[in-house]
Amino acid sequence: MKRLENKVAIITGAANGIGKEEAILFAENGAKVVVTDIDEEGLLDTFEAIKKLGGQTIGMKHDVSKEADWREVISRTEAEFGKLDILVNNAAILSRNGLADTSLEEFNRIQSVNTAGTFLGMKYGAELIRKTSGKGSIINTSSGSGLVGSPGSTAYHASKGAVRIMTKSAAIELAKSFIRVNSIHPGVIETAMSGGKSGEHPLKDKIPWPGLGKPIDIAYGALYLASDESRYVTGSELIIDGGYTA
Ligand code: NAI
Repeated sequence: MKRLENKVAIITGAANGIGKEEAILFAENGAKVVVTDIDEEGLLDTFEAIKKLGGQTIGMKHDVSKEADWREVISRTEAEFGKLDILVNNAAILSRNGLADTSLEEFNRIQSVNTAGTFLGMKYGAELIRKTSGKGSIINTSSGSGLVGSPGSTAYHASKGAVRIMTKSAAIELAKSFIRVNSIHPGVIETAMSGGKSGEHPLKDKIPWPGLGKPIDIAYGALYLASDESRYVTGSELIIDGGYTA
């Protein structure tokens, strides 16, 4: 039996980078996957990659900062697949601006996508898991930036710190409903967000392990947290960062 056989997952920000890799890995492991993103073109690529594997999937345009979009994603998931077992809150945006260069508008935009987007996902995702599956796993994507500071990107750090602590609070609240909630903390991973494969990331020299991480390194961690192998793991932080925060 595959590790996610008979499970239904929603993955946000699945058009690119880490979310795309998670969606493909989850489908390979037997899950039916609802892939969502604001980037419709990228989403089509993910959708087609899953179809090619023979997986079952739905792609939906979805801005995680919008409550109405969440309601639609949840109701379509229920209509098409009948239930929800796994939610990966992965979508996020980054700003590398320091304090002086960050406007309040930019600060608020980052909180609305990264923090409120995760909050809304947990709120509506937990409701559908409770109603249809009776147990499940929510995986929130924080960051090394949710654990330690770095120069600049104060607004991004604020959002990822919030994701980390919201995860713990929700884990305590939802344990009685048999819903596990954990956070993943990637280090520097080769995606568009980090500047890709250039290897020229500002934190590069602070990572003990040689080289940057790859999206699949995070996807394997998410697969563990999504599967029943982690059935007693909740409120935890899975750090996958080549030793950056060690
Ligand atoms: P990425 O930029 O490659 O992918 C992010 C995806 O989120 C994109 O497809 C984008 O269209 C989507 N997105 C952006 N705003 C959205 C919105 N409002 N609603 C729905 N989708 C939206 O980034 P990457 O690297 O794959 O990041 C995935 C997660 O991992 C993020 O939460 C990020 O903060 C986190 N992370 C990434 C690290 C890295 O080095 N790449 C390091 C630490 C954390």
